[in-house]
Amino acid sequence: MEPSRRTVLASAAAAGITAGAAGGTAHATGGRKPVKELFGRLTDGTKVYRWSLVNGGTRMKVLSYGGVVQSLEIPDRRGRYANVSAGFSALDDYVASSPYFGALIGRYGNRIGRGRFTLDGKAYQLSVNDGEQSLHGGAQGFDKRVWDVEPFTAGSDVGLVLYYTSVDGEMGYPGTLRAKVTYTLTRRGEWRVDYEATTDKATVVNLTSHVYWNLAGEGSGTVEDHELSIAASRYTPTDAGLIPTGELAGVAGTPFDFRRVKPVGRDIRDDHPQLVTAKGFDHNWVLDKGVTERPGHVATLRDPASGRTLRIATDQPGLQFYSGNFLDGTLTGTGGTLYRQGDALCLETQHFPDSPNQPSFPSTVLRPGETYRTSTVHSFDA
Ligand code: BGC
Repeated sequence: MEPSRRTVLASAAAAGITAGAAGGTAHATGGRKPVKELFGRLTDGTKVYRWSLVNGGTRMKVLSYGGVVQSLEIPDRRGRYANVSAGFSALDDYVASSPYFGALIGRYGNRIGRGRFTLDGKAYQLSVNDGEQSLHGGAQGFDKRVWDVEPFTAGSDVGLVLYYTSVDGEMGYPGTLRAKVTYTLTRRGEWRVDYEATTDKATVVNLTSHVYWNLAGEGSGTVEDHELSIAASRYTPTDAGLIPTGELAGVAGTPFDFRRVKPVGRDIRDDHPQLVTAKGFDHNWVLDKGVTERPGHVATLRDPASGRTLRIATDQPGLQFYSGNFLDGTLTGTGGTLYRQGDALCLETQHFPDSPNQPSFPSTVLRPGETYRTSTVHSFDA
């Protein structure tokens, strides 16, 4: 039997093995104070910093630009590290052509049909940046903003608090939205994301994180052999513009059934019309647990070869599983390899796409005096 990650960590610690450069062995001791370095400058001279965090065997690098997780390293079952988050090595690439690699998404994760919605009788037109639709907050979403970052250590946790204030009318959204996102690495090496936001006018909000996972290591090829389970009996089918039709369709007997673990690629070439339209999986799963007070387990992704396993827990009602369909070999990743279709996948915890136009979906409205709060926890094992 393969040793569990915890056993590897414990024996590495007992042998006095410390964390080294990428490719080193696992390290069991707790977190250190996050370290800051200059990563680059935007054309207007704004400095972008990169923060390095280490705790519980997980190593992470985060940019002040977009709150981007530039790399996330975890060990395999033998303690060998790999960066499992697709990204770029240079700031210019994030600015010029990132498909939201590792970024924070706001004000609204996924699409709003034709970039339009009505709230309290008033019509709003958002920035349209995906054919006719508004995607991930519009042309200059939270992924393209420089966030204020404050590091912290709290007990055995280490982390960063990221702040961004989106002014009234930005990308067409009403209200000044003050967003605060906390990235925590726990002593067990979990990456926890806590989102908060307040507004001074009624608005809509749906924040998420857009990490592209490849548990064999970014740039190592397809994730079709990764095994995935999603605790959802229904999903939201879409029209040709990838906007939900409003139906909550059952997954039973369809390629969308991930209630029992199966390889990502097993049914991806099925001629199901929804797979044909989206060029693979690019849908919102309706999580069986619904909205919960605390994060509950909703999905597990595992690379059988390395043993690296990601478990996701959230309080949100939806999960967008996007199988990297639009990666087309035009982007060169952190390790110098081209990303092709299916070389990484996203699991974005969220409210359903287009909720502002779908009265039957859980509401994404935020009003003055209320605080938007949501949390997602990523746990790693091997
Ligand atoms: C969406 C895809 C989109 C991708 C952008 C995903 O969250 O569901 O449709 O192409 O983000 O990279």
